[in-house]
Amino acid sequence: MSEARTAFIRTYGCQMNVYDSDRMADILARHGYRRSETPEGADLIVLNTCHIREKAAEKVYSEVGRLKPIKERARAEGRSVQIAVAGCVAQAQGAEIFARAPVVDAVIGPQSYHRLIDVLARARRDGKAVDTEFPAEDKFDHMPPPANRRAAGAVSAFLTVQEGCDRFCTFCVVPYTRGAEVSRPVDKVVAEANALVARGAREIMLLGQNVNAYHGEGPDGRTWSLARLIRRLAELPGLVRLRYTTSHPRDMGDDLIAAHRDVAALMPYLHLPVQSGSDRVLAAMKRRHDRAFYLDVVARLREARPDLALSGDFIVGFPGETDRDFADTLRLVREVGYAQAYSFKYSPRPGTPAAEADDQVPEPVKAERLAMLQALLAEQQAAFNGAARGRSVDVLLERPGREPGQLVGRSPWMQAVQVDAPREAIGRIVPVRIEAVGANSLFGRLRAVATPEALPA
Ligand code: SAH
Ligand code: SF4
Ligand code: F3S
Repeated sequence: MSEARTAFIRTYGCQMNVYDSDRMADILARHGYRRSETPEGADLIVLNTCHIREKAAEKVYSEVGRLKPIKERARAEGRSVQIAVAGCVAQAQGAEIFARAPVVDAVIGPQSYHRLIDVLARARRDGKAVDTEFPAEDKFDHMPPPANRRAAGAVSAFLTVQEGCDRFCTFCVVPYTRGAEVSRPVDKVVAEANALVARGAREIMLLGQNVNAYHGEGPDGRTWSLARLIRRLAELPGLVRLRYTTSHPRDMGDDLIAAHRDVAALMPYLHLPVQSGSDRVLAAMKRRHDRAFYLDVVARLREARPDLALSGDFIVGFPGETDRDFADTLRLVREVGYAQAYSFKYSPRPGTPAAEADDQVPEPVKAERLAMLQALLAEQQAAFNGAARGRSVDVLLERPGREPGQLVGRSPWMQAVQVDAPREAIGRIVPVRIEAVGANSLFGRLRAVATPEALPA
């Protein structure tokens, strides 16, 4: 092990990148790097990037521009700083990144993180280094067990169980940046979940680009579905809440729907993106389902779990989208009723079929549709949160809140809840009466539990 060095990691994009950043920190920790909270003074700066929309991808270059003087100042002081670009932009652009941003030393794709130290050493030796292979070996087998989670002992932890995507929706870069679908074996997932629980996790969010297509090898040698994996994880002592994201409607199998009915630890909140409410647009997107199919999945989920709340993703201004198609999206949103949602203007991505379409929607039309959709979604979210007022909800307390004496946790429906409670209560599920509803949080009071000893374990 070498002398103490520090690494700063900045994460963009989805939860899988958050998970990957922690795993890179684990690797770096093994090689003597401490994690730094700022780029200033760090010996290594890693940008873990996202390529999903143009804006996300462009952020990397503005960030690199800000880092350049830091690197130059360090050099003037006789210190060398390495800048590495990781993540989906790294995978998509590879060595092209050096041409646009010569200050970058290393480029490493999401499937190569287990070789991070080697890539950094090569960059030191050769000036620049790239690794964007999709290696045959399982990168998870070559990474240390999770230790260096950003919030050490996080109450709610991420666990990647599946990576990549085989669906090739016509707008999306993920199948190109993350590669083909791969599921981790059940035993490895269970071992990692146990390690997270031992470190204080009470809730685990299972992650995958297409997580409900999970098909991992079970201990019995058979292929296990996500539903079966969830049932197994729900047996782990100390693990009280399970969630999973992101799901594709086509992979919402009967057994997974049944798990929402049977497994108490599986929280009644599901992110189930539909992208559009128009059958024409859904077909052009190659989502491989229509509006009726989605609505039927939602109905069956709600039958299994009547208090299930839904979240979604929407794209407006997909090539060829008409006013009528967009009206179909608004209609679907009204029909489903979302607790929360993300919505985006369509962004043409290099190498994807939709980017080549000649009926691109003009920017002002996209902007107008996005504003309309977001107004409706915001209204639904406010209604959903407002309905919590006066009710008692079970809150898993996660960390100190903004004010002294305050903790913040989450309701079963992912709402952030602020409550006055003693620090010792972090990691517990407590009944909270919701008294006020803010823009981003609910505010409540602990019910009927006066002393920490009286809090449920
Ligand atoms: N696997 C998930 C989505 C992952 S990408 C799924 O199938 O639903 C996250 C979200 O980004 C998508 O749901 C989509 O709404 C949005 N997105 C992806 N590509 C986009 C693009 N080219 N332009 C705008 N939004 C996009
Ligand atoms: Fe992208 Fe999701 Fe479609 Fe896969 S299923 S191509 S990740 S939008
Ligand atoms: Fe972005 Fe890659 Fe995630 S493109 S959304 S970081 S899979």
